[in-house]
Amino acid sequence: MKKLYGVIGDPIAHSMSPAMHNDAFAALGLDAHYQPFHITREDLPVAIAGMKVIGVAGFNVTVPHKTAILPLLDEIDPLAAAIGAVNTVVNEKGKFIGYNTDGEGFIRGLHEEYGKPVLDKHILIIGAGGAARAIYYTLSQQGAVHVDIANRTLDNAQQLKARCPYPVNTAILTMEEAEAKLAEYDIIIQTTSIGMSPKVEDLPLRLSTIRTDAFLSDIIYNPFETAIMKEAKQRGARVQNGLRMFVYQGALAFEKWTGKLADPDRMEKIVIDKLGGKTC
Ligand code: ATR
Repeated sequence: MKKLYGVIGDPIAHSMSPAMHNDAFAALGLDAHYQPFHITREDLPVAIAGMKVIGVAGFNVTVPHKTAILPLLDEIDPLAAAIGAVNTVVNEKGKFIGYNTDGEGFIRGLHEEYGKPVLDKHILIIGAGGAARAIYYTLSQQGAVHVDIANRTLDNAQQLKARCPYPVNTAILTMEEAEAKLAEYDIIIQTTSIGMSPKVEDLPLRLSTIRTDAFLSDIIYNPFETAIMKEAKQRGARVQNGLRMFVYQGALAFEKWTGKLADPDRMEKIVIDKLGGKTC
């Protein structure tokens, strides 16, 4: 019987996950379908109960349900519990198990493009929201040694650090402090919404002292090249946008559901086509 997968969120109409996963099912000859489900906050509990009764084999979770879903699941992977957010649910013999593949997806994409191990590098994360938490906790869990955090609201960054269950050396910085010591970092990870369409000219901080051998990874992929990526490139650094993170969080979910590896390049092509162009 055809297996049913999907993504729940509100809004959900513009999700690129259905095209990406349905293509991967077809490419691997799997009898499965991936469906977007528009689920409001108030309908979340009944939706989860319904998906279980129907026997949905697995699903992704997006805004605004990544945290609200935790108490509705049967089990939560320890990393997802630490992050406090689930983006992937697997139906294991009738039990819904929650995972978070955002941080691991980011690290896979970073490692691939960076071309060298990243965990021993001096890393700066800009931002302290949900995406930063997934990346920071996953980096720490995997053994990163030095990851500083710069954020507009210092208290949010302090809390991120204080609640991290894995050991890591971290300084909390204002944006100005981070600008002043930017030359110390091998890898800079931009996780705020600054630079996202439509305010594409905005920068979270200036890169006047970025090293030419530094690497800047922005998790935004719309636009493909943010203002901070442009500035980093102009100063001789290498850059990456958020496409690979998006692709790998999906590929990792796909692997958890099917036990099979999806082709990340094929997945990325689908996303680029849906976004209507070529990446930088
Ligand atoms: P996400 O889940 O996508 O990470 P989020 O949890 O809302 O989104 O986090 C947004 C991040 O972007 C935060 O670090 C936020 O800074 P604050 O903690 O100070 O709110 C940052 N951010 C968003 N808009 C910003 C702006 N205009 N200037 C500086 N930081 C901004």
